[in-house]
Amino acid sequence: MNVSPKHLLFTPQPWQLEIDRLIPEQAMLEETLFALANGYLGTRGTMEEGSQPGQQSCEGTYLNGVYHSEKITYGEVAYGYASHNQKMQLVPNGKIMQLRLDNQLVNLSDASAGKRWLDFRSASLHRQMHWQSPTGKQILLTTSRFASLSQPNLICQRMEIVAQNFSGDIDLSTLLDAAYQFSPNKDDPRVGVLSLDDSLMLHQQQSTDEQAWMLHQVKDGPFRIASATAVSASQPADNISHINSDKQVGQQWRFRLVQGVKLIVDKFISYQHDQQMEFGELLLSCQDKLQQAKTMGWDQMLAEHKHQVAEFWQNSDVQINGDPALQQGMRFNLLHLFMSIGKNGHCNMGAKGLTGHGYDGHYFWDTEIYILSVMTATNPELTKQCLTFRYRTLDGARQRARQMSHSRGALYPWRTIGGDECSAFFPAGTAQYHINAAIAHAIRSYFTATADWTFMQDMGAEMLFETARLWLSLGHFNPQKQDRFCIDGVTGPDEYTAIVSNNFYTNAMAQAHLRFAVQIAAKLQDKNRPAYQLLCKSIGLNDAEISSWAKAADKMYLPYDAKLGIHAQDDSFLDKKPWDFANTPADKYPLLLHYHPLVIYRHQVLKQADVVLAMFLLDDAFDQQQKARNLAYYEPLTTHDSTLSSCIHSIEFAETGQYQRAYEFFHDSVRMDIDNRHGNTEYGIHTACMAGSWMSIVQGFAGLRIRPDELVFTPHLPAHWDSYSFNLQYQGRHLQVSVAKDGVRYLLKRGATLSIRHHQQELTLSSNQTLHIAKVQS
Ligand code: BGC
Repeated sequence: MNVSPKHLLFTPQPWQLEIDRLIPEQAMLEETLFALANGYLGTRGTMEEGSQPGQQSCEGTYLNGVYHSEKITYGEVAYGYASHNQKMQLVPNGKIMQLRLDNQLVNLSDASAGKRWLDFRSASLHRQMHWQSPTGKQILLTTSRFASLSQPNLICQRMEIVAQNFSGDIDLSTLLDAAYQFSPNKDDPRVGVLSLDDSLMLHQQQSTDEQAWMLHQVKDGPFRIASATAVSASQPADNISHINSDKQVGQQWRFRLVQGVKLIVDKFISYQHDQQMEFGELLLSCQDKLQQAKTMGWDQMLAEHKHQVAEFWQNSDVQINGDPALQQGMRFNLLHLFMSIGKNGHCNMGAKGLTGHGYDGHYFWDTEIYILSVMTATNPELTKQCLTFRYRTLDGARQRARQMSHSRGALYPWRTIGGDECSAFFPAGTAQYHINAAIAHAIRSYFTATADWTFMQDMGAEMLFETARLWLSLGHFNPQKQDRFCIDGVTGPDEYTAIVSNNFYTNAMAQAHLRFAVQIAAKLQDKNRPAYQLLCKSIGLNDAEISSWAKAADKMYLPYDAKLGIHAQDDSFLDKKPWDFANTPADKYPLLLHYHPLVIYRHQVLKQADVVLAMFLLDDAFDQQQKARNLAYYEPLTTHDSTLSSCIHSIEFAETGQYQRAYEFFHDSVRMDIDNRHGNTEYGIHTACMAGSWMSIVQGFAGLRIRPDELVFTPHLPAHWDSYSFNLQYQGRHLQVSVAKDGVRYLLKRGATLSIRHHQQELTLSSNQTLHIAKVQS
């Protein structure tokens, strides 16, 4: 399944993604891949000159957590349907820098040669091109851009212009543009339809020699937004005029170019949003940021940004030696995860990060099950920030639970930005109650990996308890099934099966959730009785209720088919007719775009890992034979139409010793977006899949399992590789693991003595010590 480099759009390079051809039909894909973000904001990798008529492009700059509400129109409504969609807000585009020479627009499509590249080491986007005017004047143009990771309100952009064979005037328009448009494919439910026009209300705008700014109120949402730009140049302009037209502000500069002398123009773009701040304050804050950036200058701004990125790589880099395309894919994925993830506790991580309109910018369980697996093990502070966001939206989850007729507890939304349920199709939305278990799972993993008791006491326990108690209200002790605890009317992770009884994944995850909640309740009571009592009082919790969690967990019904020796996906799944894969042509995938949901629901067919995902997350609740049998049954029924699927199969194939299949599935995840394997990366990256590619290596090939008192590894080296290595954080320690042909090396870079289990061997590692284990299982 190795893809030969000549079929790849991008040449494999370890630290960058580069393209040196112009492929017009691929423009939107590049805009996604070359998007930049810093968690606070994100902007697509569009051209500085803006899109030209007839060119396919999807402009977008987004602020994480900022949305407008749109009433959802149903043909037929029912009680409790999500009423409004919270759509990620588009904001003015500050990247526009249009050059005109002799009245001719300098743009990439007319360039004689050019390339663009994303540099992973510095999280910055670059472009270089040669351009010639109709009269033969030649220009060398270089641009650089980064979304500052040290000053999250800022995007910095530099343009360098060299007149190669002439001296003369050149005009540069630097704009803040609130007029960009985009009409996506409305027949694909995964593509978000966002519009700037319908959602932003202009309060004020202005342009001066120093700055250009706009103030907007989000029409149907609580947000006020300030956007501003400032420009500084390496030489004074001969003339400046202001642009202050409808929905565009900025300046037009006339510079005198001298042959061979570089003109450098830096543009700083700042955004600030808030629900309470007055416009005046917002603007001042934006202007302050711009002033600071100008005073510091490009070099220092870049140095501080690079410092943050370097720290990220130190904590997170994964090296794959022996396959440059996979190495490139891995680092590309990690960088995008780091760039897009919310870092301030007020926002989270969209399924598409901050790189495109897809799924309207919504946050899903993708964060807790996939993305936070990576962050918890490499940058746990970021996990804490994302869980803090869930804590801030706990009240909304409580209200949603009441609306869904649960008298207690909290039900988190399947998809959201601000905390409200935004799923218009409830069978594959609200019915996915396993979102509660996903959040509990992330809390459990974070706590295991960090032992952060402060977080648990301040936020974690309350979220755990409120989500745990919901299972008791949702499920029941079923006399038809020997009083087992059953959960009806839910949808599991596999969205090709909906509204079933006893989805194995949901029940098993709820069981783990309830047990962990009981354990934390006991621990809190023990460690800090007043805090425990206060929490119980504030949420109306008592010992009897906690005992009922333990009872439900113990009596949880976990469907099993003794004849097949497998776990049934739910009560009815195994009775259904298997999907006729042999007669389904390749162009009918993904099934969701070609068959009515009911047709799909009537069959044994999976969109993505379901039982197989439970096997990974719940790990030693299954033995190896059970895992192998479940995999052998479910994988052939799985379309992997969701990008969340391949990586989990890779992990489970690795765990059961089927390394070739594990490798094939890993391959599919790691270059999912770079190679546009699902054909929809134009609308944004697939963040869960990106995280999944890390999981396939670290939790699949290396077999990492994080336990409260040790780290467990069962490393395997894929046959095609010379070696691989990765970095981890665990309870304050920094560890590097390298798996090579001659063995495995564990290096404890920082922190107190660490216990490791390597296969069955117990090891102890002290600070700065490297242990080399000579034998690698193959
Ligand atoms: C998957 C969901 C996922 C969503 C967002 C869907 O296609 O089935 O599991 O949460 O995409 O990534």
